Amino acid sequence: MNPVRRLPQLLAMALLAGCAAPSGEAAPDAPQAAAVVEAPVPAPPADGQARAQVAMKEFGDTLRTELRAAMSRDGAPGAVGFCRVQAPLIAEQVMARHGVRLGRVAVPGRNRNPANAPSGWQGEVLAGFQQAVADGGAPEAQVAVIRDGLPEGVSLRLARGIRVEAACLMCHGDNIAPPIAERLAALYPEDGATGFLEGDLRGLVWVEVPTATEPLP
Ligand code: HEC
Repeated sequence: MNPVRRLPQLLAMALLAGCAAPSGEAAPDAPQAAAVVEAPVPAPPADGQARAQVAMKEFGDTLRTELRAAMSRDGAPGAVGFCRVQAPLIAEQVMARHGVRLGRVAVPGRNRNPANAPSGWQGEVLAGFQQAVADGGAPEAQVAVIRDGLPEGVSLRLARGIRVEAACLMCHGDNIAPPIAERLAALYPEDGATGFLEGDLRGLVWVEVPTATEPLP
């Protein structure tokens, strides 16, 4: 049985959820009589999944904004250092805020940092994503939610495909300017993350929700 269920709509749902007002908060002008005929409070969305979606979106948005800022501040060669130092720090912050674990991994054999090679389950999910993209699917539309067969202490795993965009090519494409190439070669002698084309599947961003999460601040 394949425990991976792909839910392309999930992303749209995550975006909507991000914009929705906090549930359970009464509108300020709600009539008093509402207390008498109060509808049952709807069950919260499958908590773990909502938490994972919010954390994933925050990680992606923050990385994107900060990378853009680093590029205009330090230029692309300087931004190589940003990716090396800040990306893991941003992951740490988002993990602490949402009580989840998360990160980015590359498609097999195409990682830059050896720490970003896919683990077993991530490799399986990536194989499915690669097939779907080969069949014409969009990388960023590939989503997997895994609830079954998880190891002790993990209640849910969420993964989404990462698309190579034009802006990524200066550091991940096949025609990298010498100052950037030199930085990359010095920092990542085994770099496998070049030669991508726009629209390729770059890897996935993953979130793991623990069974018992710390209360959020
Ligand atoms: C300024 C150069 C630069 C740009 C632009 C850039 N990256 Fe990277 N990227 C890096 C570096 C350096 C790393 C290694 C980070 C580390 O050591 O953790 C990396 C790592 C990654 C990883 C983690 C997997 C791995 O191979 O280590 C992914 C996924 C990734 N980049 C995707 C993207 C995408 C998508 C874009 C465009 C939206 C992009 N990058 C733009 C430099 C860049």
